[in-house]
Amino acid sequence: MSDNDPNDAAAAVDEARLWQRHEDMAQHGLTPRGGVNRQAFSEEDRAARRTMIAWAQALDCTLATDEIGNLYIRRAGRDKKAAPVVTGSHLDSQPTGGKYDGAYGVLAGMEALAAMRDAGIETKRPIEVVAWSNEEGSRFEPGGMGSAVFARDMRLADLLPARDPDGTALGDALARTLEATAEVPHRDSGFLIAAYVEAHIEQGPRLEAAGLPIGVVTGIQGQHNYEITVTGTEAHAGTTPQRDRRDALQSAVAIIAALGDLMHDETDTLRFTVGRMDVQPGSHNTVPGHVAFTIDLRHPDGAELDRRGDAIEGVCQAHVGPCDVVVHRLNAVAPTRFDPKVIETVQHWADALDFSNMLIASGAGHDAMFVAKLCPAGMIFVPCEKGISHNEAEAATPADLAAGARVLTACLVDLANRV
Ligand code: GLV
Ligand code: MN
Ligand code: MN
Repeated sequence: MSDNDPNDAAAAVDEARLWQRHEDMAQHGLTPRGGVNRQAFSEEDRAARRTMIAWAQALDCTLATDEIGNLYIRRAGRDKKAAPVVTGSHLDSQPTGGKYDGAYGVLAGMEALAAMRDAGIETKRPIEVVAWSNEEGSRFEPGGMGSAVFARDMRLADLLPARDPDGTALGDALARTLEATAEVPHRDSGFLIAAYVEAHIEQGPRLEAAGLPIGVVTGIQGQHNYEITVTGTEAHAGTTPQRDRRDALQSAVAIIAALGDLMHDETDTLRFTVGRMDVQPGSHNTVPGHVAFTIDLRHPDGAELDRRGDAIEGVCQAHVGPCDVVVHRLNAVAPTRFDPKVIETVQHWADALDFSNMLIASGAGHDAMFVAKLCPAGMIFVPCEKGISHNEAEAATPADLAAGARVLTACLVDLANRV
């Protein structure tokens, strides 16, 4: 064994400490049903950031935050000028989210830093853990904002006017969040990264079904997000003849049914979801005059994704009936293929640490898909119970979480001394 052996760092991962951090982090936004509701730039998100800051200080790490609130925790390397090897994920959750989606990637990174300290490991490059802002996009759309702004895939100025369902502007919520961490030095986003590895629960059933603790992630399917707005005319529910109505909800329902047909896929590869619908004025005795709904469309083949996405506008216009419809594409992310060297590194350490593993493609979106535009990137998956995620019942075992953290720790030490 040589000094600064990734095996030593991996062996120092403390399963109980990692588990306890998940329990502690889940207190910020804990729901009565044992899940988490920690919306981006909310009070709960701010409390989560304060907890991260305390943990970072206890590890003698330095902190920084950027213009969109991404929070960086840095363990120094021997070469102070070298670009860091970075890991992380997000602390925001779905409204009925679980304890592990996102939080695991951040906390596994913190565990890696703690394990390196405990094992007395030095690295040439610094290693940083980042909590990317607003990955979920459930409060402020679109998701993936923190990592996308970092990667110059989205512009902060374009995002600031976005409003949450209560009318709060993203700019205001972000300003409050930055004020709450005012003592953390500012750093501009977009700095050079040597390599990026993100740990995450799989959020699907394949690892559990195969009985494997580790997924070596090869890439992420592409994703388009749309907002569809249907406008009709508000009218009295008791007096207005059916034939004279411009009922925005009836038109929206007809459009969604037609889109369901358009998105039919014999192979069940395509993913089509209408996850939110807003009906105005929302009174049971007024014909709805305005409906907005979202479309989340995903496919691993970029050309097929574009083909289906491009057909949405025509179907909406053909089925809108007496109302008007506007189709707005919020964002489009092409499929991501992770860097072969990072994939190989993850696989190497999973094998070396004796964790059986398989190659796996991600159905869910992750911050890694934006960071992969900047530097060699990859991901590590661990199983979650029955593949359930975006649900308060989301669950993972302490042993699987620790296995992923061990592979992550070894990869970070290896990359920070090698690349
Ligand atoms: C991230 O949560 C996604 O929507 O895939
Ligand atoms: Mn996630
Ligand atoms: Mn999620």
